[in-house]
Amino acid sequence: MCGAPGGFSQIARDKTNKKGHVFLVDIARIKSIPDIKEIIKGDITKISTIILLQESMKKHGSLDKEVIVLADCSPNISGNWITDQARQIWLSEVALGISNFFLAEKFVTKVFQGEFYLELLQKIREIYNQVKIHKPETSRKRSSETYVIAKERKNKELPLFNKKFLILED
Ligand SMILES: C[S@@+](CC[C@H](N)C(=O)[O-])C[C@H]1O[C@@H](n2cnc3c(N)ncnc32)[C@H](O)[C@@H]1O
Repeated sequence: MCGAPGGFSQIARDKTNKKGHVFLVDIARIKSIPDIKEIIKGDITKISTIILLQESMKKHGSLDKEVIVLADCSPNISGNWITDQARQIWLSEVALGISNFFLAEKFVTKVFQGEFYLELLQKIREIYNQVKIHKPETSRKRSSETYVIAKERKNKELPLFNKKFLILED
């Protein structure tokens, strides 16, 4: 989710020795990337985008594979920290909803720490048994950016549309 211009997707592709089915969704238009199954230009907060992704996964025979949702969303930065941080957390929460939609076994998301961060962590913990916080060395020490890595999905059979976590609008 929010994968343009494609650095993380290429790493995901390479880490799986090109065996993993990588789908990239971003609101920005980008050129094709070799061995990425599909690049979907769309807003992740719109259900129509997620339906497109689902159709594409079906077309490529990916729906019965283990799903990992990797979200690196940053909103358009307005310069107002409170607004930008809240928007970023909201995008991460939408990504969590998407991870729930696809019953993803693992969920990784960037977060800007601040207001609503602990609530988001709580929601992730409700879905996953193992939740770790990781600050990559490449991320500036003073920046509030960090990554949450969640593994071991608790409930394997939640309904696809779970209103509690899926906050999508069209
Ligand atoms: C930090 S960049 C991602 C970089 C990417 N991980 C990579 O390795 O190339 C953040 C991305 O979030 C995307 N984004 C922000 N809001 C979005 C939304 N509502 N739907 C889809 N993408 C969104 C931006 O277009 C931008 O490309």
